[in-house]
Parts: sequence; structure tokens; C-alpha cells
Amino acid sequence: MTARIALVTGGTGGIGSAIVKRLAALGHKVASNYRDEAKARTWQAHMQSQGVDAAIVPGDVSSPETAEKLVHGVEKQLGPIDILINNAGITRDTTFHKMSALQWQEVINTNLNSCFNVTRPVIEGMRNRKWGRIIQISSINGQKGQYGQANYAASKAGMHGFTISLAQENAKFGITVNTVSPGYVATEMVMAVPEDVRNKIAAQIPIGRLGEPDEIAYAVAFFVNDEARWITGANLAINGGQYMGW
Ligand code: CAA
Repeated sequence: MTARIALVTGGTGGIGSAIVKRLAALGHKVASNYRDEAKARTWQAHMQSQGVDAAIVPGDVSSPETAEKLVHGVEKQLGPIDILINNAGITRDTTFHKMSALQWQEVINTNLNSCFNVTRPVIEGMRNRKWGRIIQISSINGQKGQYGQANYAASKAGMHGFTISLAQENAKFGITVNTVSPGYVATEMVMAVPEDVRNKIAAQIPIGRLGEPDEIAYAVAFFVNDEARWITGANLAINGGQYMGW
């Protein structure tokens, strides 16, 4: 496989770290953004202890200006970005009638507007080089909705709308654009859901357990492969059977 340069936004998180490891294991040069330098340095050292070299570059993806600086930072450290994984995401769960404008905006800015902010400065280079992989990490809750997540579900459904439009516009340029929609994976984000609520959700998963971050990273690596070049505009659900769309 050709070694490529990859940016995984939110790469220091649960699913992000697994994606970084998988892509690095395939021989790609991988970078993650960060907002908190001390935390990112600790993460980088931890990755290093597992034999994974990952670059870290400052940049909050929720702002167009800092996202553009992030892209330039990665290009400076590693080179032009071939693989972009829009993975950064947050939750601000609350029922809609109690939701503040800030809780709505923070989630939309970080999860959805970040896709514009980071992809926009990357896409032209991919089009010029005639090769690219862009993958949105969405969610089961963008597909089925979730009590307490009007903001998050709207952002995650929007990510796939972004995928299928970008896929059409860039198909002729060797760029594939796909979505991976994870279900409930054992990460800090899911473990923050109150235990009683989480147990009720876990009981709805036919495979009988939460997912593991690497089970998501496996699908990302699949889409990144050269051999996946005819797959574009797809939305791959990985949720232990909790939600089966068609
Ligand atoms: N369906 C129907 N009713 C529900 C419900 C559901 N799924 N969940 C809660 N309710 C009801 C409760 O039964 C309760 O009803 P009563 O008042 O009649 O008893 C009412 O809603 C209020 O529930 P809570 O006491 O739980 O209210 P709250 O304000 O304390 O919390 C909540 C509401 C924030 C939505 C909380 O239930 C919650 O955190 N739910 C989980 C949300 C979730 O799944 N988040 C996913 C985070 S992980 C992630 O996002 C990753 C990913 O991609 C999968």
C-alpha cells in the first residue's frame, strides 16, 4: 500500500486513537489536532510507548480560522493531506425543551461545521493530486434519533448529507467520501451517559455488548484502502445490530 498522510480530527479521543493506530499500522503518517497541549503531549507519549508515531498539531476544528491553521500546520510537519477523518465530536445531551442556544451551537460547530472548516482547506489539494479519502465519523443517533440528543442527532445526520454531496462533486478526482456510523462504543463519551440509562441502551444491542474503538477503526481502514476506490457516498453502520437501516 502507498504510504499517505492522514489527519484524524479528535484523534486523541477514544475512537480517534484507534483510528490513528490503525492508519499508522498501515504505514501512513498520521496527525491529530489538539486543543489542550499538555493532554496531547501525554497522549503522544502514550502512543509512542505502543510503537505509534503520531504528529500533534494545535487547532480547534469548530472555528474556520483555527481549522485552516491546523491544516497548514499538518502540511508543514508531514506534507499534503491525502486522508481526512472528520472524527472530532462532542455531546451536550439534554431534552430539547431545556436546551440552550449554546448547547445547540457548540455541538453543531464542533461536529458538523468542523467538516466544512477542515475539509475546505484540504479539498483543493486532493483534487489537484487526483487522490483522496474523506471519512465522516457520524453516529447511529444521526440515523435513528435519540431522546436527549436533538443537537447531536442533527449534527450527525448533517454529516452524511455532507458526505453524499461531496462524494458526487469529487468522484471524478479520485476522491472517495464516505460515512461510518458507530453505535455505542465503550469510550469516555458513552461512559458519561448515566449508568442506568446506559445499561438500558446496552440491553438493546443484539450482539450483547458495547462496541470497541478498534471495531470502528477497522471500517475506516477499509474505506482508506486503494481497493475501496469504487465505494463512495456510503454510510456504514457499525452498531452491534442496534439499528438496522437499509
Ligand atoms: N425514551 C422515552 N422516554 C425517555 C427516554 C427514552 N429513550 N429517556 C428518558 N426518558 C424519559 C424518562 O423516562 C423520564 O420520564 P419521567 O419524567 O416520566 O419519569 C424523562 O424522560 C426524563 O428522563 P431523565 O430523568 O433521564 O431526564 P434528565 O433530564 O435527567 O436526562 C437525558 C435526560 C439527558 C436525555 C438522559 O436521559 C440521557 O443522558 N440519556 C442518554 C442520551 C444518550 O443516549 N446519549 C448518547 C451519548 S454517547 C454518544 O452520543 C455516542 C454515540 O454516537 C452513540
